[in-house]
Amino acid sequence: MPESSPMTSRRRLVILISGRGSNMQALVQACRDQAWPAEVCAVIASRPDAQGLEWAREQGIATGALHHKDFPSREAFDTALAAEIDRYRPDYVVLAGFMRVLTPAFVNHYAGRLVNIHPSLLPMFPGLHTHAQALATGVRLHGCTVHFVTPVLDHGPIIAQGCVPVLAGDTPDALAQRVLEVEHRVYPAAVRWLAEGRVRLTADQRVEVEGEPPRLFTGSGMG
Ligand code: GAR
Repeated sequence: MPESSPMTSRRRLVILISGRGSNMQALVQACRDQAWPAEVCAVIASRPDAQGLEWAREQGIATGALHHKDFPSREAFDTALAAEIDRYRPDYVVLAGFMRVLTPAFVNHYAGRLVNIHPSLLPMFPGLHTHAQALATGVRLHGCTVHFVTPVLDHGPIIAQGCVPVLAGDTPDALAQRVLEVEHRVYPAAVRWLAEGRVRLTADQRVEVEGEPPRLFTGSGMG
């Protein structure tokens, strides 16, 4: 449990996006329930034209945007990003389609408080074009992973996964849509466990879970 807020208050989330923001929307909608243990304090984008920013603004959520082109280096961008995030004193920083590689200094600053969702069953298919990669390799099972962020891209201790079948005739877009539906269930569940203090990252980089929440979700078509 982070030490920055008393146990009685809701955990503070800052969500980082780069585009559409449908996972951000799923999290915001979950937080609307006052019984939920977390609230979204801000949505910050890696580009000012990120589609999800407008939706967040319409919900009355504080927003911010930084453009990497305005900074001389990755380090300078990440330093400014951390300063913007820390204005909101978050307990957790939640990457939701945030498409930038983060520096080790940034990742270490939020150790144990920085989570990501990736559209594959990690450690399979890190990086981009995960759905096309899944189709190209012929796997019958695909999905998404919520994990703690470590300095290695798309790696890190796994909190929860969601799986869907790969169906005959699937295109990358059709598969992406099936995975996205399960993402919208897995991410709020995983963030809820974090906010409840049921899931944490240990010093030796293991995920420790209190109670036994269902850490594998199944999406449409799994029967
Ligand atoms: C989601 O599928 C998310 O898993 C993926 O980007 C999409 C963002 O959609 N993230 C990554 O690929 C990170 N490596 P959204 O903006 O609608 O949430």
